[in-house]
This record gives sequence, C-alpha cells and structure tokens, in this order.
Amino acid sequence: MSSTTSSSHAVESSTLEGARGELMQGVGRILVTESEIRQRISELGAQISDDYAGLNPLLIGVLKGVIFFISDLLRSISIPATADFIAISRYDPQQKTKGPVRLIKDLDETVEGRHLIFVEDIIDTGLTLSYLLRLLKARSPASLEVCTLFNKPEHRLVDIRLRYKGFDLPDRFVVGYGLDYKGAYRHLPFLAELRPEVLQLGPK
Ligand code: IMP
Repeated sequence: MSSTTSSSHAVESSTLEGARGELMQGVGRILVTESEIRQRISELGAQISDDYAGLNPLLIGVLKGVIFFISDLLRSISIPATADFIAISRYDPQQKTKGPVRLIKDLDETVEGRHLIFVEDIIDTGLTLSYLLRLLKARSPASLEVCTLFNKPEHRLVDIRLRYKGFDLPDRFVVGYGLDYKGAYRHLPFLAELRPEVLQLGPK
C-alpha cells in the first residue's frame, strides 16, 4: 500500500470515528446487542423454515424500519421464501396521536392463496399492525401470521397473536437496528434507548 493511500485511510477512519461519536451522543443504554439480535434472528429463521417447509411463504414488511430485520431474517430462512413491502404514513409515536394509517405504497405481489408472514420491527399499541392485518385478511391469503423482532407490551391497545417474537422490551423509546428518531439512528447495529435530552428537544 502506498503512503498516500495509507494516510488517506487514516484520515478516513478518524473522520468515521468522529461521525460515529456524533451519532452515539444521543444514544443511551444498549438494550439488545448486535450479537443477541443476530442469534435471535437465526433462531426465528430456523423456526420459520421448519414451520413453512413446502409452503413458499411471503414475508411482508412495512418500509422503512423493517429493512434490516427482514433482510437478515430472509437470509436465515433455508426454504424458498420471498419478501414484499408496503409503505404507510404513521402517527408520530412521540406525540402519541393516533391518526389514521394511510397506504402510500401497496404490495407488488398478489397475496390471495399465499402463506403470509407479516414482519414487524416493533409493536407498541398494535394499532398500525391491526389495521394492516385487516387489510391483508380481506385479500384472502391461505394463512397470515406475525413475526416481530421487538415487542413493547405495556401500551397494547389491541390483542394481536404473535406467532414469532424476538424480544420483549420495557416501555422506552428505542432506536437502532431499523428504528429511528426523526429519520436518524436507523443504522445502529444494536438496539438502544434514546437519551431523554434528545427526546425533550421536540420536533425539528
Ligand atoms: P403501534 O401502532 O403503536 O404498534 O406502532 C408501531 C410503530 O411505531 C412501529 O412500527 C414504529 O414505527 C413506531 N414505534 C413504536 N415504538 C417505537 C420506538 O420505541 N422507537 C421507534 N419507533 C417506534
């Protein structure tokens, strides 16, 4: 390696460390580590592979929070399986206002007669999910189950059967592994609490 290349690498890595430090400033206690997430997803993938052998399940996710989970889950499934996505407008979880869910992007695939697994990053009140499950049930799938990585049971307003669940969490606002606060922190490889000071800053 030339000295120019190695010195530019040194600059790059110190810039990266600076950026990582800035990102970590708002991050509080880590609740679930990267390796715990990886381990649990491989268990869920193995379980789904057993349960759905010969059924070619379709994993359905809501953009954008679920992207990391659904791609890691799909790669840990050892039977034929595919994924499709919807996009919705959601209420602001910080404001706790429960506005109606609006579909912004529908599925590309037809789900009639398919075995569906609805994949969620996190379930809090369950209102978003119950609306989406109703919408999918109306399209006559062969079966419909839910797989969520994180579950916050304390504020549940609707009863939802969770066939597959990664981790139960306390009632805290969390970020990382797909979960964001105002679009930030999604790409943290672990799940952490957001520092209360950051939450108190309010809307941008
Ligand atoms: P529910 O309708 O209350 O279950 O809302 C679930 C959705 O709210 C999730 O898919 C997230 O988009 C968002 N959400 C709930 N809790 C958190 C959190 O702690 N951090 C980030 N997003 C959250």
